[in-house]
Amino acid sequence: MKENKPDFYNNLDKVYIRIWELLKIGLLDRDAPFHIPVFICDHDSYADGRMVVLRGINKKDKNLWFHSDIRSNKIKTLKTNPVASLLFYDKKEKVQLRIIGKTKINYQNNITKKSWNKTVHMSRQCYLGGRAPGSKALSHTSGLTEEIENYEYSIEESEIGYKNFCVIETFINSIEWLYLAAKGHRRALFEFKGSSTKKKWLVP
Ligand SMILES: Cc1cc2nc3c(=O)[nH]c(=O)nc-3n(C[C@H](O)[C@H](O)[C@H](O)COP(=O)(O)O)c2cc1C
Repeated sequence: MKENKPDFYNNLDKVYIRIWELLKIGLLDRDAPFHIPVFICDHDSYADGRMVVLRGINKKDKNLWFHSDIRSNKIKTLKTNPVASLLFYDKKEKVQLRIIGKTKINYQNNITKKSWNKTVHMSRQCYLGGRAPGSKALSHTSGLTEEIENYEYSIEESEIGYKNFCVIETFINSIEWLYLAAKGHRRALFEFKGSSTKKKWLVP
């Protein structure tokens, strides 16, 4: 059976518009596949990816961000090599995005303040552990005290988590888009330098 070709199929400008639409859906809809991309960073002989929650996008400034724990291992990696990648896939849309950019670790600044104030009681739990994520444990553990595990803390008490909270922004250098469909694949690259955007088709 022949599938209908989407509007953007042979149109780079429409592909670009669709990319930002999908990112916006990913930001607003927690069930959308683009809500949880894989964030990949590396240095020397080390490379690693992990799921993160998309917390913000800015089409004009071409950046996006997620929240993290300043004590986590990825922070050490980003300090030696700030260039990182975000990988998205939406099965229904048949779209993969590979976003590459330079990261900025925001810590105790206006950006973190704004994001922390929007971080609800339940989500603050992630930042209330006494030890760094990934540190060795003597036995199975959530890393939290029983009270915190049971959400027995007030919003005021959760303020202590702010010292562990950071916002990792990625300023986008390029977006590679892949549309993998039975009707014929398409692949495109968008590169950003200053205010200019270069758009080109690639062989899938
Ligand atoms: C669905 C899902 C969402 C996650 N969201 C985040 C997130 O937004 N930020 C984050 O730092 N870790 C998040 N994690 C945990 C990371 O995948 C990872 O385990 C953690 O950040 C430690 O990574 P690191 O040791 O490489 O720093 C999430 C994990 C899952 C499964």
